[in-house]
Amino acid sequence: MRTQVAIIGAGPAGLTLSHLLYLQGIESVVLELRSREYIEHRVRAGVLEQGTVDLFRSAGVADRLDRECLVHHGIELLFERRRHRIPLTELTGGRAITIYGQQEVVKDLIRHRLEAGGQILFEATETTLLDLHTSSPRVRFRHGGEIHELQCDFVAGCDGGHGVSRTFIPPGAVSVYEKLYPFAWLGILAEAPPATDEIVYANHERGFALHSMRSPRLSRLYIQVPRDEPLERWPDDRIWEELRLRLGTDDGWTLNEGPIIEKSITAMRSLVTEPMQYGRLFLAGDAAHIVPPTGAKGLNLAVADVRVLAEALTAWYREGRDDLLAAYSTTCLRRIWRAEHFSWWMTWMLHRHEDEDGFLQRLQISQLRYVCTSRVAAASLAENYVGLETV
Ligand code: FAD
Ligand code: DHB
Repeated sequence: MRTQVAIIGAGPAGLTLSHLLYLQGIESVVLELRSREYIEHRVRAGVLEQGTVDLFRSAGVADRLDRECLVHHGIELLFERRRHRIPLTELTGGRAITIYGQQEVVKDLIRHRLEAGGQILFEATETTLLDLHTSSPRVRFRHGGEIHELQCDFVAGCDGGHGVSRTFIPPGAVSVYEKLYPFAWLGILAEAPPATDEIVYANHERGFALHSMRSPRLSRLYIQVPRDEPLERWPDDRIWEELRLRLGTDDGWTLNEGPIIEKSITAMRSLVTEPMQYGRLFLAGDAAHIVPPTGAKGLNLAVADVRVLAEALTAWYREGRDDLLAAYSTTCLRRIWRAEHFSWWMTWMLHRHEDEDGFLQRLQISQLRYVCTSRVAAASLAENYVGLETV
């Protein structure tokens, strides 16, 4: 088998890359570890930045998104039992965020790739990357019970935070910067109309909580729990009780409850691999960097990376230029470190930390009050949240 670009992983990064390359007449094959059914139903992110939506529109894959998404012009911060609105659109010259589930993005991209004759091999296992430092790398993998070898010009490692691509870079060729947090998010999807029109981020003495949504009938909610917390300790009643406490306000706002149809726990970490390339291997998305989810940046960064990579590969195939490929990592890392800082800062401001005398809690409340009363402070949060145009 031969292709121009071998793409490892059919998440938002790998699928978007495959589509952008197709639009430029560049061939790719996507290898995905899991089944189509599995990845089309894996519930994760839900907030798309303006730039992400604009890219999907210009790439012609936003038909269903435009019909079904929810556009939001603000978010709310809840602390000391009061909700405060950050008017994102007003503060950013008209930009907005879009609520549309990541699994819907994945479904749309898979459909568009397959309709255009694109090749996605699901349930491809034992993926091994070979000869990455030469001009003709190879990918060996098992599919349909047999071992195959895919020859290519480039390999795009888009296989997420638990992928294998990164492990084929020799030790010492990259640096990894990492921070683990002592907490995780327990997330639920519930068949209940959202009790809010906009996303609510809550700082509460019992821990962080977040009220988001997927549609007028589906709520998406999260609570901070200790790292390594077993899901069995959280029967549905306990989750609702905790959400009621942490999202409680003095103005009588109440949650809408309903059957929980999905429940999972995600540990939180920050991680950056530098550089994001080795020979003919280019890492993109969670395979190269992880952010804690508080800033809603992960999916958006993944899409931003592959936009840069698609442009660089196009310049290589069309004009024989390698300068954009050489600069890939440096170009992406500017946006990535900005998002790393923003996500770390939002996480710090909103979660409960080890804090014996309440010093950190007082700093958090002071910072939250500042963000909610100073237009300049609110604008700084807003422009990072909707996504910076230039970094
Ligand atoms: P992934 O989506 O992880 O895709 C990688 C793919 O590679 C997967 O399909 C995987 O099965 C496959 N794979 C793995 N190993 C192999 C292998 N060896 N061979 C072949 N394939 C392999 N981000 C936001 O922007 N906004 C949000 O609101 C947001 N909220 C989040 C909430 C939660 C609870 C979580 C967990 C994450 C959230 N994120 C959010 C982050 C976002 O989901 C990720 O950043 C995003 O999935 C990254 O996309 P990706 O394509 O890089 O990686
Ligand atoms: C959602 C996820 C996030 O990480 C976030 O910051 C806001 C909303 C969501 O899943 O809707």
